[in-house]
Amino acid sequence: MSTAHVTAAPDSWPNSAKLLHLFLLSTVSFQMITGIIGWIWGGFPFFWHVTVGEILIAVLLLQWGWLLFSRAGRITLCYLFPLNPAGLIFVAQDLLGLTRGVLAPPGPRAGLPGMMHGIFLLSATLVAAAGLTLLGGFRGWWTGVPFVWLLDFMRWGAVAIILQWVGHVGMVFLHAFTGDPLWNMFKWHFSSKIKHND
Ligand code: HEM
Ligand code: HEM
Repeated sequence: MSTAHVTAAPDSWPNSAKLLHLFLLSTVSFQMITGIIGWIWGGFPFFWHVTVGEILIAVLLLQWGWLLFSRAGRITLCYLFPLNPAGLIFVAQDLLGLTRGVLAPPGPRAGLPGMMHGIFLLSATLVAAAGLTLLGGFRGWWTGVPFVWLLDFMRWGAVAIILQWVGHVGMVFLHAFTGDPLWNMFKWHFSSKIKHND
């Protein structure tokens, strides 16, 4: 498998996106593991799941706030949800490339990887919202919470997150293996210039 001709700028994610991603990665992974342990083994580190859960809600508010209200965020939002003809054409081109064994270029750009990141973020947001609703029901913040339905939603949502986690990390390693500068997602850059590739 090879990478496509167009590669992303070597360090093109804004620092804010990198920082939010790091928080998202650690809190979602923690919730995923503790939640699944609770489901499979019955034993549940409830205090930690709820504490990290509340931190995750704050991270998600920051993440969506950044995506909706900052300039760099709004550009990223178009990559995560390419719901326009030009964006969908990029996705189709990436899919076509995959059938020929060519990996889509990573980085902040419209295309298949961006759309998969968007679906991942949306899945984590929906499961976290269900968790908060459940917690509010337990604590009496609100009433009429469909507990059984929400618990089922969270359990199968956690499965969907695990599958995407494996796919996401797998693709990161595959890209890194082909020489793409993926690990820059975890490196701070100090230049004020932020490049966005189309
Ligand atoms: C994407 C993130 C999350 C995942 C993958 C996740 C996963 C899970 C899973 C699989 C369960 C079922 C455990 C069982 O069957 O015993 C669960 C339960 C629960 N989660 Fe989460 N969760 C997440 C986020 C949150 C958040 C943000 C909160 C609250 C702020 C939360 C609060 C709860 C509560 C209150 C329960 C019910 C525990 C019980 O039945 O005793 N979760 N979670
Ligand atoms: C656990 C939940 C995770 C979620 C919800 C998540 C979500 C995302 C999202 C939404 C993006 C796009 C960038 C952005 O909009 O901020 C992204 C990119 C990225 N993620 Fe994750 N991620 C997770 C875990 C991980 C893990 C464990 C790794 C470690 C290998 C990782 C490595 C990366 C890399 C290298 C990129 C940049 C990809 C590119 O340049 O195209 N992520 N992730």
